Amino acid sequence: MAIRKIRTIGDEILGHVTKPVKFITPRTAILIGDMLDTMYESGGVGLAAPQVGILKQIVVIDVTEEGNNPIVLINPEIIELSGEQTGQEACLSVPGKAGIVTRANYAKVKAYDQHMKEIIVEGEDLLARALQHEIDHLSGILYVSKVEGDLVDASVEDRR
Ligand code: NI
Repeated sequence: MAIRKIRTIGDEILGHVTKPVKFITPRTAILIGDMLDTMYESGGVGLAAPQVGILKQIVVIDVTEEGNNPIVLINPEIIELSGEQTGQEACLSVPGKAGIVTRANYAKVKAYDQHMKEIIVEGEDLLARALQHEIDHLSGILYVSKVEGDLVDASVEDRR
């Protein structure tokens, strides 16, 4: 596995719509492993394939402090949202910045895991925010388009 280069805001690939994954090739499996390595190495809580330059519907998330609960989502689809949370959000593709974004407080997502087994992932609070943020990346949407007020300089914590 390897650390991949993270594309940053201004790179046009981040604005592109991604394609669904049809089956997991050895190459896709390596990509998923690299995405996890890259997310952990960068201290993020999530990473979407376009952020490493790949226009496929693949997301990895881990919102735990320990970094021991990776979630791999292939072709994720939000099937339910409810409630509301307003809070600070950041992105590995927008280094050093953060901004206030309002999102649903609960999200339910249908996806496939890295073995193409169908899974349902539900989350509240930070996990719900990460799910919505990462799935937005697959449609070429960055959180900066949803920020209320201005982007501010951020600490190295709370990146995704
Ligand atoms: Ni992001």
